[in-house]
Amino acid sequence: MAAEVVGGALLSAFVEMVFDRMASKDVLNFIRRTKLNNRLLEKLNIKLLSAESVLNDAEEKQIKNRAVRTWLAKLEEVIYDADDLVNEINTEALRCKIEGESENTSQQVLNFISTPFTAFKKRDVESKIEEILDRLDFILQQKDFLGLKVGVQNKPPRRTPSTSLVEESAVYGRDDDKMAILDLLLSDEVGGNKISVIPIVGMGGIGKTTLAQLIYNSVDVKNHFEIKAWVCVSDYFDVFRTTKIIFESITSQTCDITDLNRLQENLKQKLVEKKFLFVLDDVWNEDYIEWDKLKSPFEFGACGSKIIVTTRSEKVANMVRNVLNYKLKIMSEDDCWLLFVKHAFGNIEPGAHPDLVEIGRKLVRKCQGIPLAVKSLGGLLRNEENPQEWERILENDIWESSAKEHDILPSLWLSYYYLPQHLKRCFAYCSIFPKDYQFEKENLTLLWMSQNLLESHETKRAEEVGDEYFNYLLSRSLFQRHETWGFTMHDLVNDLAKFVSGDFVLRLDGCYSHNVAKKARHLSYMRGSIPNMKNLDTLFENKYLRTFLPLGCYSSLNE
Ligand SMILES: Nc1ncnc2c1ncn2[C@@H]1O[C@H](COP(=O)(O)OP(=O)(O)OP(=O)(O)O)[C@@H](O)[C@H]1O
Ligand SMILES: [Mg+2]
Repeated sequence: MAAEVVGGALLSAFVEMVFDRMASKDVLNFIRRTKLNNRLLEKLNIKLLSAESVLNDAEEKQIKNRAVRTWLAKLEEVIYDADDLVNEINTEALRCKIEGESENTSQQVLNFISTPFTAFKKRDVESKIEEILDRLDFILQQKDFLGLKVGVQNKPPRRTPSTSLVEESAVYGRDDDKMAILDLLLSDEVGGNKISVIPIVGMGGIGKTTLAQLIYNSVDVKNHFEIKAWVCVSDYFDVFRTTKIIFESITSQTCDITDLNRLQENLKQKLVEKKFLFVLDDVWNEDYIEWDKLKSPFEFGACGSKIIVTTRSEKVANMVRNVLNYKLKIMSEDDCWLLFVKHAFGNIEPGAHPDLVEIGRKLVRKCQGIPLAVKSLGGLLRNEENPQEWERILENDIWESSAKEHDILPSLWLSYYYLPQHLKRCFAYCSIFPKDYQFEKENLTLLWMSQNLLESHETKRAEEVGDEYFNYLLSRSLFQRHETWGFTMHDLVNDLAKFVSGDFVLRLDGCYSHNVAKKARHLSYMRGSIPNMKNLDTLFENKYLRTFLPLGCYSSLNE
């Protein structure tokens, strides 16, 4: 990555890749020899350039203006089609070159005449270019109605952080919360319940999981409970799966029981008269019957056993609780400041920069006590010593207009928005992972390489470039280190990646329309999670697929 990186819109990186391909020597030679209408290609080039000139403005406005977002999606579709076409020409050029190199000259000429890229194919390609030009024309006509401005330079120059990896974030504050919940956990009977369910409730990114982790790993808890298990439930609530994770965690063995009754019977045996603590992290299930089914073996545990449930939803909390909900409040401004300093100042001494401290304090206030927001903002400004850049972030109108409509934290949006454009593509591609998915750096780098998302570098191998990109995204807190292995994206960061990648990246285990399945470029699914293979039928109509990625269940890509 260049030492100084200038940001740019996500689509700009894409357009530039199309330009690069069109300008390659092999493609130019090929166009000359096949007499492909060069004027059409030049026109395409100019149209793409004119689209590119408004991309910065459109990217900024899409978060506030739904019409601009739709317009961008349409433009992206045409650019993808243009890229497919240039790719086709490129492949044909390479094929002719390779075949030509292996034959003698006269054979080469013969080959060339008999190549499939003759009159018919040529006309085909030309009419495809014309069709793309028509669509581009139409889309570009709309840019004035949408008020999109040409040449908006809204990206401050950004410096690559000097250290490649940020260490695990320290936890600030939350002492009172920890004490309060420990009190509940360590008393044998809470409100007359043999087994208490304690929900920790609060908005996304406020620190519920972090607090639960602090408690789960505390010495007091270790000494008090005979059995402990942690389940990341997320939006995939399944009684069998949850029970199995608990059972495997208790026995430290994999379990091949496939019948829920038998599994629950086995779990019950393990729990009889034992004091346990289970944490069910990030629960969304609102179905009482399912919840009741899940907890039936828990009733056999010893008095004083506890279940902590973290959830964003009060409805879920009210359904599972038998003691009062623990409503996690926003973090104090002082603790937010400490967290911000840790991430923003990095190697800089805050005392030496009173001007930065003053702006930083105002910025922290804008994060409204949400540690995820503070952390991502800190990562964005990491090692940036120019107060003007800090001011620019402070004055960004995203704070006022708010990205609430899309459920995106303004600070997260800014973290994305100021990424260099080549990193935007790599980040957007990560929406191919489901929420809470653990991934490894090496495997993600390979995926980026397979999609040509890494810029080529004179002296560095692609793997090294991928490593730098990865560390950059990590330093911005867009990735976070998982406590066991690999990395994850916070749910809200995953939502952001999904927002920016739109319909072009599709997870087959979610909901999607026929139309989306037809035009998606990148697909993934969790093995064993597609109950109805008929869903896949629509995919046969998809002619543009570039990634088809089966993922292992909550495990590494290697599997
Ligand atoms: N007290 C804290 N000190 C430092 N960092 C924190 C603290 N609390 C949370 N964080 C950081 O903020 C981010 C969000 O925290 P966390 O994942 O715990 O939120 P959450 O409430 O569980 O969100 P969600 O509802 O999306 O699951 C994490 O990266 C975490 O490291
Ligand atoms: Mg959480």
